[in-house]
Amino acid sequence: MSETVAVPQNGERKKVIFSGIQPTGTFTLGNYIGALKNWVKLQDDYNCVYSVVNLHAITVRQDPAQLKKNTLSAYALLLACGIDPEKSIVFIQSHVPAHAELAWVLDCHTQFGELSRMTQFKDKSARYADNINAGLFTYPSLMAADILLYQADLVPVGADQKQHLELTRDVANRFNNLYGNTFRIPEPYIPKAEQGARIMSLQDPTKKMSKSDPNPKAFISILDKPETIVKKFRSAVTDSETEVCYREGKDGINNLMGIYSVVTGKSMDEITREFAGKGYGDFKTAVGEAVAEELRPIQERYEQLMNQKDYLEQCYRLGAEKARSISARTLQKVYKKVGFLP
Ligand code: TRP
Repeated sequence: MSETVAVPQNGERKKVIFSGIQPTGTFTLGNYIGALKNWVKLQDDYNCVYSVVNLHAITVRQDPAQLKKNTLSAYALLLACGIDPEKSIVFIQSHVPAHAELAWVLDCHTQFGELSRMTQFKDKSARYADNINAGLFTYPSLMAADILLYQADLVPVGADQKQHLELTRDVANRFNNLYGNTFRIPEPYIPKAEQGARIMSLQDPTKKMSKSDPNPKAFISILDKPETIVKKFRSAVTDSETEVCYREGKDGINNLMGIYSVVTGKSMDEITREFAGKGYGDFKTAVGEAVAEELRPIQERYEQLMNQKDYLEQCYRLGAEKARSISARTLQKVYKKVGFLP
């Protein structure tokens, strides 16, 4: 694709991964286990491009000072989790103008009907009924631009973003058919079984863990203090049985076992044996302590980074530069295809 993309020894092009995360509030344990932990691992085998998508964030009204803070904090958290700004491209979306530029062209190749069918749009327009803005509606075109600009092969996304990725593929195929091959068609990246664990709310384990939950006991923030983490796990909703085992209907216990398994690397059977004859209380404390232990180095690294603003700036400048050079090439190709005078 481009000379900035390393070619491994066997001569095959390393596959490109793109993903984005919105800088809204703190990240949760769900974000960490469901996404960030995988993003870190993927760096070994792929050319990874990760973005803090602040353009997407303003589809919902933001306080400007808060958005600015959250953006830097989100960027620092990515690095603190282990994303390496030398190995991967890590940047802030608004620093790379090609995203908004390609989004416009894609808007003109996406149908009103297609966007109307997006369940996230329907959900969000119900939730923010007083601000159903055009950006909220065309959000998927911007997301498609993010992905297509880097000719991504794979996109790690949760279930809630699958529909947007489907639309990305449809629009990319449509564009390629109209103008000749321009975009690589991205595939969803589904992580291997262990990471499939969807992290559920600690207060209602039938619901996804969400940072916008009005009850803070329902979610763990990556930056929660160790004592807070243990306390939240101790008050997690379970069931009226006593045995720690993975079984249909035991949503609360299943969720805790999933978390414990990802964090310790133990299998469900091993966990069941470990807690045989002990109560839920011991188990919940163990999960809380394991999670606190897993997050401790991330929190320490985060504190350090937030005290090194110059270093952070250096990283996001470098990321933007690399992202600009790749994305500009795709955009140029697109502009030429649609007939824009050079
Ligand atoms: N829409 C995604 C979310 O809210 C974030 C996102 C923006 C994204 N652009 C992307 C994810 C491109 C993957 C690829 O989770």
